Amino acid sequence: MWVEAEGGKQMEQLETIRAEALAAVAAADSLDALEAARVAALGKKGSISGLMATLGKMDAEARKAAGAALNAVKDEVAAAIAAAKGGLEAKALDARLARERVDVTLPARPEAEGRVHPIAQVMEEIAAIFANMGFEVAEGPDIEDDFHNFSALNIPAEHPARQMHDTFYFGERPDGSRHLLRTHTSPVQIRTMLANQPPIRIIAPGRTYRCDSDMTHTPMFHQVEGLVIDRTTHMGHLKGTLIEFVRAFFEVDDVPVRFRPSFFPFTEPSAEIDIGCSREGGGLKIGPGAGWLEIGGSGMVHPNVLKACGIDPDEYQGFAFGMGVERMAMLKYGIPDLRTFFDSDLRWLKHYGFLATDVPTLSGGLTR
Ligand code: PHE
Repeated sequence: MWVEAEGGKQMEQLETIRAEALAAVAAADSLDALEAARVAALGKKGSISGLMATLGKMDAEARKAAGAALNAVKDEVAAAIAAAKGGLEAKALDARLARERVDVTLPARPEAEGRVHPIAQVMEEIAAIFANMGFEVAEGPDIEDDFHNFSALNIPAEHPARQMHDTFYFGERPDGSRHLLRTHTSPVQIRTMLANQPPIRIIAPGRTYRCDSDMTHTPMFHQVEGLVIDRTTHMGHLKGTLIEFVRAFFEVDDVPVRFRPSFFPFTEPSAEIDIGCSREGGGLKIGPGAGWLEIGGSGMVHPNVLKACGIDPDEYQGFAFGMGVERMAMLKYGIPDLRTFFDSDLRWLKHYGFLATDVPTLSGGLTR
């Protein structure tokens, strides 16, 4: 035992233990080996701990000197272990990163392939066509108030048109008003005109809601609104824009477009937009034929609507339109049943969905 040996011997033994411990730490080439070196020196039965246990048997004077020397060695070894640990941990992390490296240039695994929903794809197609004609995309909230959804659109309280909208209302608020789910995208017209000075040229695609559910109606559906306001904008611009759009969208150069007189409180005159089709051999074909299909409503913005937005109707005029996105998708891609759009059936999505790489562009082609 070192306590029994001469003072010089004690120091020699301590020096040997120190050198051995530091050598073991330096030689450790893994975290496991380092841990073994730590246990051998500082563990309960380790060489340094063993010397510590013998301090109790010394007299006070000798204990003080030996204890100080021992503590210095213990600290030195502990510091060397900590330093080695940092290095080995970094090395282990590097090795793991190398081992688990992901080659991002590899193609995606086939089972991870998702699809773009036809609604999303068709809205992108529509936006691409109108962007080419100089339209910006505007947005508004799904939860609207009475002013934006109705009264600013020349639909005052008690107006019979409100009944047609089958509105979802929220609960009454302290002031007696009620928020609602927008029944059409037309409130985005109001928001756009309140926030911007003419000239205005926007489309507004988005969700709309009506309390209606059967073969041809779902409580949530999508519309694309359009609004153009300028000093000399007239009905001819409305017709030209929509004819151009329909031909680009359906990729049929000679598809007939018909403007059928109609009524909307927020446009005057108003016209429903029909496109030509034929029904030969059970199939539906967009193009010249005996049939007509309605795809939306349109008209010249009513002076009362302009006034409600602080635009002088003697100085400015313009047109607006609203089209059903599901309808457009069904006609273009031959999807027979409206309700399947919202069934979240993966087989349906695989069949009618689009690859994320099929980004519609005018130069690349709108359709896959
Ligand atoms: N908002 C009308 C609807 O939902 C469509 C429309 C928009 C008509 C703009 C005219 C002008 O039926």
